[in-house]
Amino acid sequence: MKTSPDTAIEPLDVEAIKAQFPALQQTVHGKPLIYLDSAASSQKPQCVIDAISYYYEHDHANVHRGAYELSIRATHQYEEARGKVARFLGAPRHEEIVFTKGTTEGINLVASAWGRANLKAGDAIVVTEMEHHSNLVPWHLVAGATGAEIRAVRLTDDGQLDLDSLDDCLRDGKARIVAFQHVSNALGTIHPVEEITRRSKEAGAVVLIDGAQAAPQMPVDVRAIGCDFYAISGHKMCGPTGIGALWGRRELLEAMPPYQGGGEMIDQVWVDRSTYRKPPQKFEAGTPPIAGAIGLGVAVEFLTEIGMERIHEHEKRLARLTLQLLRAEFENIRVYGPVQEISRAGVISFNLADIHPHDLATILDHEAIAIRAGHHCCQPLMRRFAITSTARCSLYLYNNVVDLNRLVGGLQSAGMVFETGSTKL
Ligand SMILES: Cc1ncc(COP(=O)(O)O)c(C=O)c1O
Repeated sequence: MKTSPDTAIEPLDVEAIKAQFPALQQTVHGKPLIYLDSAASSQKPQCVIDAISYYYEHDHANVHRGAYELSIRATHQYEEARGKVARFLGAPRHEEIVFTKGTTEGINLVASAWGRANLKAGDAIVVTEMEHHSNLVPWHLVAGATGAEIRAVRLTDDGQLDLDSLDDCLRDGKARIVAFQHVSNALGTIHPVEEITRRSKEAGAVVLIDGAQAAPQMPVDVRAIGCDFYAISGHKMCGPTGIGALWGRRELLEAMPPYQGGGEMIDQVWVDRSTYRKPPQKFEAGTPPIAGAIGLGVAVEFLTEIGMERIHEHEKRLARLTLQLLRAEFENIRVYGPVQEISRAGVISFNLADIHPHDLATILDHEAIAIRAGHHCCQPLMRRFAITSTARCSLYLYNNVVDLNRLVGGLQSAGMVFETGSTKL
């Protein structure tokens, strides 16, 4: 179908984008690096690296405390970054953005602060079989502390969430929170988050979304989704490590007790008691990751300037091409995840013949191709498919067809090393 010019999404200029990532200009084992592990952590553009260096060279001081110029500058940049992240996620208010270490800490914050205050025996916490451990273990901890029960939404064989199973989890009205991912880090499934949120809220549950894999590669609008919490990690979206953000609805954040205690989050302190500031400061105890927040602010500007719609289209196109190439070139390949392209992001998990994924990753490393192998922090998902691990390539805005061809070449070499006869050579 031909798209009309005003709605057409302009393809990315990958060469120009890649040129902005210093780490991608290197050779590894004498060959140009092909980085296909962005779902684990993305590379960083020069503008983010420069912003962090500039901050340390010129503006560093602790935030919120000083009356002097450097502290005022640092505070301004830190709070400005909060506003940038709020706009990036479509958050109605910048005070609803809490800076965290990453998605893991965002989920732990909600599980601990909201969970311990609101859950009790007889309540249910709903997760899915596909969650990353960081959206399971915090709930195990809070279930242990409160007596709430954990229920899991089942998967279909092609790696999508079974919405009938969601309804089963919600039917008796005991579900107090539904916590699920937007995009799967192991299968690349893009979940129908609006629909899941709608059903969960109709059943009276609070909704938390793990946005670790979605925020880097597609437009996110928390208002349109209708959820209550949305957690992201900076390092997966061109930002630095050690910084992430949790968006939470103001009413919920205000009603929640603090997550950690310390400086910055207090209003008044006596030796035996204290009162707290309003969100977001209530949840940001101690000196925050100032440079990280500034770097994340620049990263979201960088992504926004390129265009999240364009990045998303690019990822979907590359994912489609990867699937076509792998299926055309290899007979004994098993690819996991949705067959429908519309519900798939740029994450492709597969097993090639009986080659162990770790062997595959090691052979590809000799070809300077970086992929990930393992359970991808999704052991329940692996069990669901009766496997222990997969090889995973994950694509981002700096990958192109050349990278995919190199991947296919590397996999063909692996096929020959293991003499699987699996390649159509
Ligand atoms: C879907 C998903 N959720 C949560 C996380 C945890 O993110 P972080 O380690 O940045 O806290 C990851 C990391 O891989 C992820 O892919």
